[in-house]
Amino acid sequence: MNCPIDSAWLMGQNGNMAKQPIYTCNECGASQTKWGGQCDACQAWNTIVEDKPLGSGPAKKSLGGMRGKKIPLTDLASQEPPPARTLVGVGELDRVLGGGLVQGSALLVGGDPGIGKSTLMLQAAARFARNGLKVIYISGEESASQVQMRAQRLGLTGSPVKLASETNLRDILTTLEAEKPDLAIIDSIQTMWADNVDSAPGSVSQVRSSAHELTTFAKQRNMAVIMVGHVTKDGTIAGPRVVEHMVDTVLYFEGDRGHQFRILRSVKNRFGPADEIGVFEMTGKGLAEVKNPSALFLSDRGKPAPGSAVFAGIEGSRPILGEIQALVSPSAQPNAKRSVVGLDSGRLGMILAVLESRCGVPFTGLDVYLNVAGGMRITDPGADLAIAAALVSAREDAPLPAEVVIFGEISLSGALRPVVQTENRLKEAQKLGFTSAITPQQTKKVAVAGLEMRETSDLATFVTQVFGDRGPV
Ligand code: TYD
Ligand code: MG
Repeated sequence: MNCPIDSAWLMGQNGNMAKQPIYTCNECGASQTKWGGQCDACQAWNTIVEDKPLGSGPAKKSLGGMRGKKIPLTDLASQEPPPARTLVGVGELDRVLGGGLVQGSALLVGGDPGIGKSTLMLQAAARFARNGLKVIYISGEESASQVQMRAQRLGLTGSPVKLASETNLRDILTTLEAEKPDLAIIDSIQTMWADNVDSAPGSVSQVRSSAHELTTFAKQRNMAVIMVGHVTKDGTIAGPRVVEHMVDTVLYFEGDRGHQFRILRSVKNRFGPADEIGVFEMTGKGLAEVKNPSALFLSDRGKPAPGSAVFAGIEGSRPILGEIQALVSPSAQPNAKRSVVGLDSGRLGMILAVLESRCGVPFTGLDVYLNVAGGMRITDPGADLAIAAALVSAREDAPLPAEVVIFGEISLSGALRPVVQTENRLKEAQKLGFTSAITPQQTKKVAVAGLEMRETSDLATFVTQVFGDRGPV
């Protein structure tokens, strides 16, 4: 039987296809067609809200095509000069920005609440202002006098930064239009409220719409805008991943509340290298840059202890030394514990499996704890060999020599793969007083004066060489 289709139901009153409402998750930004108590994508409860579908108004007539010039790729003569950049004057921040702030760019700075985003932004604002930029700092979280008090504490009161406390986007854009600053800092995007969007501040629609308006406004007026965003428990910027797509640069401010140092990491940068890091230390007078992070991460090493291995890693474009600590103890539970801080737990699982299958070092019935000292977070696969060394050292209760630095990637076959920037890693190790390095076999030989190189082809040979007859049975 043919079902009659109710065309009035399908079509809007003016003949347009009726728009179905969309339901969006406030936590992860995923959209779905039906409301539900739990988000299908991130499994969060009570986070689904009705969202206005895009383009629910009548379609506008085309104005006759794109207005911008179309330039042939081959036409070098019509190339526009690169956009102007302003250096902050804080080396660690300039490095993460890829060599200063680009005129007319939009940035998102994400991080846990209380990690120091507002402090960093205020300090950066003051520096930019001193370097000749007209800066306006708009806080939606604190009153102007609170921001002023913070500036006083940070010793920044002499800087010509304009402070304002406002959450209404319309008022903010009007002020920006009148003031015409070179840089506007919005702290935070979650507190912004656009009156044409029918939902609460902090909701996906509000954040998305505010970020979109601010970014478009900034591009049109050639003004840089930095938006601060809070990060949720699972590490994403609250609500909208979409904001990450809108902006030119996304920086994450990370760190452990229990530790003084903070890392600013660029996860996306249209104007510079991504994955670059800047290291700061939280002091009583705000954030101070750390020029030699390796020394900071290795500072409190005592005499060699079992389960500790130093690796030379690369974060962004720079070498950083770090200490991997492992503890292995007999398990009282039927399922032995695997606990990791500062590393991906999947990698621990992989390295344990390779040690067991390729080197005959089982960890069955043993609880394993792995930690990167100082609260650093490592993503470099070159840490694999140091992780394996720390694990075997802890299991055998045999300390590694204090003057040795270790790096290399482990493949599932147990072979060791060379890693990028070997020479930079070795130079950093030598600078910090290490005299010996264990690395995978190098295709291109690298030598650094004062550093003895010990190359190993596979993990099993490494375990026998390093732990000798104390090695596992
Ligand atoms: P804040 O910048 O307010 O964090 P966010 O904007 O990311 O929420 O930083 C708050 C923390 O920083 C707070 O716990 C106090 C500490 N802090 C210092 O240790 N020294 C300082 O000079 C300042 C201003 C803050
Ligand atoms: Mg803040």
